[in-house]
Parts: sequence; C-alpha cells; structure tokens
Amino acid sequence: MPRRKEAADLRSARWFGPADLRSFGHRSRAMQMGYAPEEWQGRPVIAIVNTWSDINPCHTHLRQRAEDVKRGILMAGGFPVELPAISVSESFVKPTTMMYRNMLAMETEELLRSHPVDGAVLMGGCDKSTPGLLLGATSMNIPAIFVPAGPMLRGNWQGKVLGSGSDSWKYWDELRAGKITEADWLGVEAGIARSHGTCMTMGTASTMTAIAEAVGMVLPGGSSVPAADAGHIRLCSESGRRIVEMVWEDLTPQRIQTRAAFENAIAVAMAMGCSTNAIIHLIAMARRAGQDIGLDDFERASRRVPVIGNVRPSGDRYLMEDFFYAGGIRALMGRIEPFLHLDCVTCTGKTLGENIAGAKVYNDDVIRTVDNPIYGEGSLAVLKGNLAPDGCVIKPAAMDQTFLKHSGPAFVFDDYPSLKKAVEDESFPFTPDSVLVLRNAGPQGGPGMPEWGMLPMPKRLLKMGLRDMLRLSDARMSGTSYGACVLHVAPESYIGGPLALLRTGDIVSIDVDARSIRMEVSDEELARRRAEWTPPPARYERGYGWMFTKHIQQANEGCDFDFLRTDFGAPVAEPAI
Ligand code: FES
Ligand code: MG
Repeated sequence: MPRRKEAADLRSARWFGPADLRSFGHRSRAMQMGYAPEEWQGRPVIAIVNTWSDINPCHTHLRQRAEDVKRGILMAGGFPVELPAISVSESFVKPTTMMYRNMLAMETEELLRSHPVDGAVLMGGCDKSTPGLLLGATSMNIPAIFVPAGPMLRGNWQGKVLGSGSDSWKYWDELRAGKITEADWLGVEAGIARSHGTCMTMGTASTMTAIAEAVGMVLPGGSSVPAADAGHIRLCSESGRRIVEMVWEDLTPQRIQTRAAFENAIAVAMAMGCSTNAIIHLIAMARRAGQDIGLDDFERASRRVPVIGNVRPSGDRYLMEDFFYAGGIRALMGRIEPFLHLDCVTCTGKTLGENIAGAKVYNDDVIRTVDNPIYGEGSLAVLKGNLAPDGCVIKPAAMDQTFLKHSGPAFVFDDYPSLKKAVEDESFPFTPDSVLVLRNAGPQGGPGMPEWGMLPMPKRLLKMGLRDMLRLSDARMSGTSYGACVLHVAPESYIGGPLALLRTGDIVSIDVDARSIRMEVSDEELARRRAEWTPPPARYERGYGWMFTKHIQQANEGCDFDFLRTDFGAPVAEPAI
C-alpha cells in the first residue's frame, strides 16, 4: 500500500506550484478562465475524458452527465477539467470503429500525459469507447475510474419488446423472407432505439462495461444502471467523489488490473454470454496492464463457467433493463463467486468480495443459478486447426446447435459486395450444408475487422425456412449478432494466413467439442497454392490508415498497435515543464 499522497506530491503541482515564470503562466491562464487560486491550489485536478458527441446516440446524455461528475469532484475537494475525446460511435463511424479504438487509446493516454491532471474519470460505453479509454488510462497509469454510459431502455414495436441489433437482423430476415411488410419494418426502425444509452442487448457495449466493472474500474453495480435511470446521474456524481480519494490513495489502474482481476473479467464475460469482441479487447487491455492474457485463458474459462445471464442474444428474451431489475452485475458476480478471486482490490479501495457482499438476485430466470444455466459451458469457444493456426472464435451459446459439428463445401468470397450479390441471388447453388466464407475482412484486410462476421443468410435458404448455416471469416461480429459464425480467423487472409488458400468446393469441417477447424486439403496442395499466392495491394498509402495497417497486430494479440505495447521500448517520461 503506497503512502497517502499530500498536496505537494500531486502531479498537477508541477504545473501550478513553483514560483517561476512557467507556473506564473499556468496560474494566470487558470485565472483567465475565472478560477481563483483557492479553487485549484492543493487540490487534485481531475480530467473528465468525455466521449460525448452530437452524432453518438449512445453518449448524447454524457454532455450533461459530465456536469454531474464535476459536482461530485467539487464536493470531494477536487478541481474538475473536462477534456473531450473522439467518440467512436458504433452506429455512424466507417469503415469500422475498430479502426479508431487505438486512436482513442492514444488520445486518452496523451491527453492525460500532456495536461496538469492527477486523476481521470473516463466517460464512454458505446462498444470501442470502453476499451479505448481504458487502454489509454492504463498505459498512462494515473488513478482512473470508468463511468459507463448505461444501456438504453428496451425497444418497443406494437407492444413487442425489441432488442438492439438482434431484432434488426431478425426482422430484416423476416422482411426478406416475405413474412413482414415494409410498414412493419418501418415500425421496427422507429421503435428499436428509444432513449439515450448504449445497446441494451448483451452486445459489445454491455459486455465491455461489465468487464470494466469486473476488472475493478467501475463503482459496484455501475455497469448495469440504465442510462435513463436517475441512478445513473447519482453514479456520475459518486464516481466524481471517489476519484478524488483515489488520487490521494494513489490507486492506479495497474494496481487494480492484476492478472487475477483479468481472470475475474473473463469469468464474468463468460457468465454474461458475452460478445466475441470481448476477447480482442480484453487481451489488449491485459497486455497494457503488463498481464499476459491470451486465447488459452478464455478457452479455460469457457470450459468452467456457465452462461447464467439470460440476456439476448445468448439468452432468449431478456434485455439489460431486466438484468438491472434482477439485481445487475453484483448479483451475477455473487452467483459465480467460486470462479472469482474475491481479494482483488477495486476502484472503491475495497475488495471485489466486499463490493458484492449481500448482493441479491430478484429474478432467477434473468440471472440463473450455476446449476440451472442457460448454457452449460462458457459462451465462447476458441477453435484451432490448419485453417486458423493462431485460433478463431465461435459463440456456441448463440447458434443452431446442429452446426457444432459440421462438414460442408465452402463458397469463398474475396469481398463483401460479391458475397452480398450471391446471397441475394436465389439461383446461386447454396445448400443447407454449404459453408459461407468471406476473407480480406481482418485487421489489415477489412481494414479494422469490420463487424461483417454474421454473414447474411442466402435468400434461397431463408425461403427454405432455414435461419442458420456455418459461416466463416476473419472479420468480427457485433455482440448483438448470433448464428454459427466462425470469426477472427488468425492469421488473417490478407497477410497470407491459410484462409487465403481456401477455394470454393473445399470441404471445411468444424468440431466445437474438439475445438477444431480444418480445411480438408492436403499439405502438399496447400504448399502449391501458397507458392501461387500474391499479396493484395496496400489499403492505404498515407494518413492514419497507413499507420494503422503498418502497426496493427492480429486478433489473437488484441489488435493493439505494436508500438503501444507496454514492453515496447522504455517507458515514456513525464513531460518537461
Ligand atoms: Fe453504441 Fe451499440 S451502437 S452501443
Ligand atoms: Mg456493437
């Protein structure tokens, strides 16, 4: 336990304290903003890194919520300064937000490093914004607390509950199969997102905020509070009060995010029926904290921890609002206590065990017991074989179970538009056992691993009444998606991974129980195809995209930039003032 800090130890005191010309500049400029010295002197300066934006519907309330955070910081004797950061709206940013997760991470780290701040409140929640903020704060390693934006209210259409993402795909397929009208479809469009906040299925947003809490970076229960609930406002002010204390305690992200804390996060992710994206982000987060977490850790947890959070898409009907009423994440963690390291210290300064003590479940159907899970094993499985030597991922909890063991001929597409054309063409010879394959959709090929992995079902099969088939790609898929979709094939095809050698007509076999994936092609034939293979042209020749493709790592390594790894070169020194 480091000693409690004193005012003279504050990082910000280097800017504001000395009786020299530079500090004169900092003080006079603070006074230019209308602050009297009493307002900052001897007080922790707290950055509010806010990913609010006018075009991020999941974060629209964060503009106001930052004021609630400030209220808490002021109450506790801190000095708040809001620092806006890129918002990475999952709904609008193209080609994919995954391109910009690392940009937000870099921005967060450098915002904190370059300004006179002692601690940070991180405000985000829409998919990549959570890992982006945490990655940056962890590398900078000043005390930080995360405030999740909170899930939006349940969707509603003609009295039917609608879930983000999941019901868009579902009703889109119903429209294509001729089962609903255009007018119905417009009704779904108007009703599926009806308040601010993040997607309210167990998509990437809810998965990552739950992970942020499980790893110890969110106040207890904070990740389950709906965005529109007054409790969310109180969570903001409480987080503001707490961060000031965390600065005095020097409770940094790297002290909280131990290996055991990441194992807790993985267990919680599994029990929640998490988004496949969790794997990529958690590996990146752990490595920033100096912990070597890899696909094997997920594989181990997935064999042990059952899915007990009955939230769609792994669950059958409930959404995050129901999960909150059922007791939320604290209650879920209470149910999986045997799988958790309860002695991990969290942002409260207390242990995880203390944080969840006394948590109750109020609805046993929404948060099941481990003896009555919605899926007996963890929600994700890692497969390996000659098609994916560095691994790939499938979500057995959210797919037609007949595809858990399957062999079929591949239809291979090199780009999304040609795949899309084929699935709309009812004369294209797809059969129920066909394996639909998309390549060039990985970290470099996508670029940025777009969420195309739930490849669209061929119209021909939909009309036959089928709603699932085996699909395979080096893309990611939205956490709100479902189906027999093999994702994150590594290494990706664009850089010459074995997926690049697969041809239409080759037999692809998977066996989820045995955790294997193969193309039934001989090694000699693969060697011959490899000799013929030529790398595709570079996606970018300038700008951020160029830097991205030069430095992005593969999915099994967390898609971080190589130069942002904690062990890449000497630590960055504090800036000279
Ligand atoms: Fe923002 Fe889903 S679009 S969380
Ligand atoms: Mg998503």
